[in-house]
Amino acid sequence: MFRTNSVSLVFAGALALSGTFAFGMGGRPPADDEAANARIAPVAHVEIAGAAGTAAAAGVGSRSGEVIFKTYCNACHGTGPGTASPPNVPKVGDKAAWAPRIGVGLDMLVKSAKAGKNAMPPKGGSDATDEELARAIAYMADQSGANFKAPAAGEKIAGNERSGEQIAKTVCLKCHETGEKGAPKISDKAAWTQRGSKGIDALTTSVIRGHGNMPARGGLADLTDPEVKSAIAYLFKQVGSDLK
Ligand code: HEC
Ligand code: HEC
Repeated sequence: MFRTNSVSLVFAGALALSGTFAFGMGGRPPADDEAANARIAPVAHVEIAGAAGTAAAAGVGSRSGEVIFKTYCNACHGTGPGTASPPNVPKVGDKAAWAPRIGVGLDMLVKSAKAGKNAMPPKGGSDATDEELARAIAYMADQSGANFKAPAAGEKIAGNERSGEQIAKTVCLKCHETGEKGAPKISDKAAWTQRGSKGIDALTTSVIRGHGNMPARGGLADLTDPEVKSAIAYLFKQVGSDLK
C-alpha cells in the first residue's frame, strides 16, 4: 500500500514537472493544458485512495479543502516525497512565500488560482468549484500564516449559509453598485424604498426567479433561498431600511 502510493507520487511529480517546463517555454495550446491536467489529476487521485470514497460521497461542490488539496494541489504545493517544485510554487508551510499572496486576500487568490498563473494550471488542474478552490486555498494558506475563514465543506447543504454581506459584495453589488443593466443603485435610496414596499418575501421570490435584466438568483445559481433573502436584507440595510 505505502509502496504503491510513493511510486505514484513520484510519477505525479514527474508529470507535473514536465508540464511546468512546457509552460516555461511559452506556447502550449490550451488543448495541451487540458491534457496535462487530465494526466496530473488521475495520478494524484491515487494518493488519497482512502479518502476518495469520501470525496465521491460528498460530491462536486461540497468537497472539503483538505480533500481538494490532497487530490489536486498536493502534487505541487505539498512537501512530501515525490511532490513537484515548479518555479515559484508556494509550498504549504512556507510563510515567506505565502505572506505576499495572503496579503491580496482570499477572493483575489481564488480568482488567480481559477485563471492559472505561470506554471500553475487553471484551477490547479482540478474540477473544483470556486468555493472548493477557496477552501483548498484556505487549507494551504492557514498552515502558512493566514487566518482565512473559508466556507466550510457542505456549508450550503448544512444550512450554515454565507452571510448576506458576503453575497452582496461578491455578487449583487456588481450591478447594484454601478446601476449596470438598469439595476437600482445602492446609493439611490428612493428606488429601494419603493421596491421595499413589496415586502421581503415578494422581493426574495423576485430575485430567485430573476426580474427584468436581473438573472435568477442574481446569476449565482447555487445561492440558497435563505442566502438570497439575507443578501436582500443586507442591501436594504445599506439604504437605512430594516427590511426583514
Ligand atoms: C502543476 C503544479 C501545481 C498544481 C497541481 C497546483 N498549483 Fe497552485 N501554484 C503552482 C505554481 C508554480 C504557483 C506559483 C505561480 C507564480 O506565482 O508564478 C502556484 C500558485 C498558487 C497560488 C497563488 C496564486 C497567486 O496569485 O500568487 C494559489 C492560491 C494556488 N497556487 C492554489 C492552488 C490550488 C488550490 C491547487 C489545487 C486545486 C493548486 N494550486 C494546484 C503550481 C501548482
Ligand atoms: C446582472 C446584474 C444584477 C445582479 C448581479 C443582481 N441584480 Fe438585482 N437587479 C438587477 C436589475 C437590472 C434589477 C431591476 C429589474 C427590474 O425591475 O426590471 C434588479 C432588481 C433587484 C431587486 C428588486 C426586485 C423587484 O422585484 O423589484 C432586488 C431586491 C435585487 N435586485 C436584489 C439583488 C440581490 C440580492 C442580488 C444578489 C444575489 C442581485 N440583485 C444581483 C440587476 C442585478
